[in-house]
Amino acid sequence: MATTENGTGTPELKGKRALVTGGTRGIGAGIVARLLEAGAEVLTTARSEPDEVPEGVRFVAADVRSREGAEELAAAAVDVLGGVDILVHNAGGASPYESATAIPDEVWLDALNLNLLASVRLDALLAPAMRERGSGAIVHVSSAAVPVAFPPFLHYTVAKAGLENYSKGLAAELAPAGVRVNTVTPGRVTTPGGEATREQWAKLDPTQSGEVSLVPLGRDGEPDDIARAVLFLVSDRASWVTGSNFVIDGGEFPRG
Ligand SMILES: NC(=O)c1ccc[n+]([C@@H]2O[C@H](COP(=O)([O-])OP(=O)(O)OC[C@H]3O[C@@H](n4cnc5c(N)ncnc54)[C@H](OP(=O)(O)O)[C@@H]3O)[C@@H](O)[C@H]2O)c1
Repeated sequence: MATTENGTGTPELKGKRALVTGGTRGIGAGIVARLLEAGAEVLTTARSEPDEVPEGVRFVAADVRSREGAEELAAAAVDVLGGVDILVHNAGGASPYESATAIPDEVWLDALNLNLLASVRLDALLAPAMRERGSGAIVHVSSAAVPVAFPPFLHYTVAKAGLENYSKGLAAELAPAGVRVNTVTPGRVTTPGGEATREQWAKLDPTQSGEVSLVPLGRDGEPDDIARAVLFLVSDRASWVTGSNFVIDGGEFPRG
């Protein structure tokens, strides 16, 4: 398959060990499928074990919002895979509130833990080995909502804005060691989490329940629209790409 082979007939991620957070549904499941197809060994995590894990995928239950969860997951990755060459921080999300000032303190902290600090902690545990080996690829999943800063989601967009900034800085630090760090920034993608969140938002604000897609390319995204970009970023085809942020949103939220 053209996107998974390197011209030699060898799957392009053969021999690579990948950890993808939140890979049991939605965008994360799409990323897991692409990495697996490209020959990587894949371990994924979520809080609840799914009824079925795709053949070839390893699963460990963990909650990435806490330091303990990150430590358990990093230890499991070393146990199960023997180390990590590819680290995709996909677990994330948040529920909307009726106003920015109604967002409770504990919800702010939860959003920061899930959408920013989970990545910071897991990178701190797993990136040093990549640095020592002199190779590795890390991808952080942000949100196209960041520059818009929708008030009902400020806890989420602020955390993701921090994630984008953090990702850029980590890329600068790890580049001399040959470790690449990038961000992918999805727009409106059809997933269980995305649909549930948009339904909650429409209940709070009926103007958000429009049937007509506002995406310039004429449709909402599918998980694989994001997964293909992640596959590119973790592959050798992106060997000169680091510190970048790929906005993949059908043209909905242009950035200057
Ligand atoms: N869908 C969109 O329109 C959209 C737009 C912009 C950005 N994004 C971003 O894309 C990423 C994936 O979103 P999605 O829509 O695919 O989400 P989703 O359908 O809700 O799936 C989220 C995945 O993450 C896992 N997860 C959630 N909280 C976790 C935790 N605390 N610890 C470990 N795993 C956890 C979930 O499993 P469990 O619930 O079992 O833990 C599930 O596997 C997120 O970072 C989201 O912010 C999505």
